[in-house]
Amino acid sequence: MQRIYLDHNATTPVDPAVIDVMSETAAHFWANPSSGHQPGRQAREALRLAHESIAAFVGATPAEIVFTGGGTEADNLALLGAARARAHEGRHVVISAVEHHAILESCAVLRREGFDITELPVSPHGRVAPGDVQKAIRKETVLVSIMHANNEVGTIQPIGEIGALLRERGILFHSDAAQSIGKLPVQVDALHVDLLTCSSHKIYGPKGVGFLYIRTDTPIAPLLIGGGQEQGLRSGTENLPGIAGLAETLDIAAQRMAAEGDALRRLRETLWEGLVGAVSGVRLNGHPTERLPGTLNFSVEGVRSSDLLALLDEAGICVSASAACTTESSHPSHVLAAMGIPAELAAGTLRLSLGRANGEEEIPQIIDSIATAVHQLRKNQT
Ligand SMILES: Cc1ncc(COP(=O)(O)O)c(C=O)c1O
Repeated sequence: MQRIYLDHNATTPVDPAVIDVMSETAAHFWANPSSGHQPGRQAREALRLAHESIAAFVGATPAEIVFTGGGTEADNLALLGAARARAHEGRHVVISAVEHHAILESCAVLRREGFDITELPVSPHGRVAPGDVQKAIRKETVLVSIMHANNEVGTIQPIGEIGALLRERGILFHSDAAQSIGKLPVQVDALHVDLLTCSSHKIYGPKGVGFLYIRTDTPIAPLLIGGGQEQGLRSGTENLPGIAGLAETLDIAAQRMAAEGDALRRLRETLWEGLVGAVSGVRLNGHPTERLPGTLNFSVEGVRSSDLLALLDEAGICVSASAACTTESSHPSHVLAAMGIPAELAAGTLRLSLGRANGEEEIPQIIDSIATAVHQLRKNQT
C-alpha cells in the first residue's frame, strides 16, 4: 500500500542532500572541534562555517547562534536561562496560552522557583493581541515568550509588532520558531526578538539538533555546564554531523521556501474545499489566512479523533489528532481549549500537515478516505 504522509508538523523525512552532508561530515570531520591538532582544526572550521551560514539565514552574527539538541532544549535554555539570569530584576514572565509544552513545562519549573507567569489568552483564531501583551507587562517583567507559528493549528502570531513594543520597553523577547523557520521568513531584527528557537527536523533536517539565537549582550545562564562549548552556553562535544545537516537544511529552505509555500497553500485549499463538500459538520481551526501554508486543522462533529486516526491509518493515511506529542494522551488540546472550541468538538479534531512529498494526485484519495471513515463512525453510533 502506498502511504500518504500528512504529518509534517510532527516531523519530516530527511532530505537526501542533507543525509549526504551528514555522512560526509561524520566520515571526514569526526575529530573533536576543541582539539588542538589538525583534524580538530578541520572539525572546528566545519563548525565555524555552520555557525556562519545559519547566522546569515536569520540575519544574526555567528556568535549569536548556540547549537542545541533540538527545539525543546532551545526553549528550555531560553526560558530558564534568561529568567534565572534576570531574577534579581524581577520574577514575572509572560507567555501565551497556546505555547508548546517545552515552554509550558519550563514555566512550571519557574513557578516553583518563585516566578509569577501570566498566560495570555488568544482569539478564536488562535492569535495573541499585541495590546494584551502591553497590558500584561509590569515593572518586574523580565521575559516575554510568544511562539511564531503554532504547531497544532498553524496560526502565525504578530511577532514583529509584539517585539517592537517590547523593545521600546527594554523587555527581553523570545519566540519559538520551531514550526516557522524554513517555512516563513525569519529575520531576527525584523521580528525584534532577543531569543529565537529553531528545530531542524520539521524542515527535512535531522532530529535532535537545533539552535537558540541569543542577541549579543542578552543575559542568559546555561543549563548544561562542563567544557564551555558554544560560548559557554551549551557545554558538550558538538554534534557536528547534525549541525552540518541543519546548515544544509536551511540552505535548501532558502532556495525553496517561497515556491514551496505557494504550492502547499494551493494544495491545502483544494483539499479543504473538497473536504467541506464531502463531509458534513466540519469546522476549520486556526486563522483563515495568517497560517502556516501546509497546516490544515479541523474538527468533525460526532466522531472521536482516535477512532478516525485508526481508520485512516488502516487506509494508509498518516495524520495527527493535534500535536504529535499529545496523540497518546487523553488530555484535550490546550490550544483548542484556549481558542474556545467546545470540548466535544475538539475531541473530533484532525491535523493534516502537508509537505514536499504531497501532490494534487493524492487529494481524491485523502478526501475519500476521510469521508468514508467519518461515515462509518457516525453509522456505528446510530
Ligand atoms: C512549536 C514547537 N516548539 C518546540 C518543539 C520541540 O522541538 P524538538 O522536537 O526539536 O525538541 C516542537 C516540536 O514538536 C514544536 O512544534
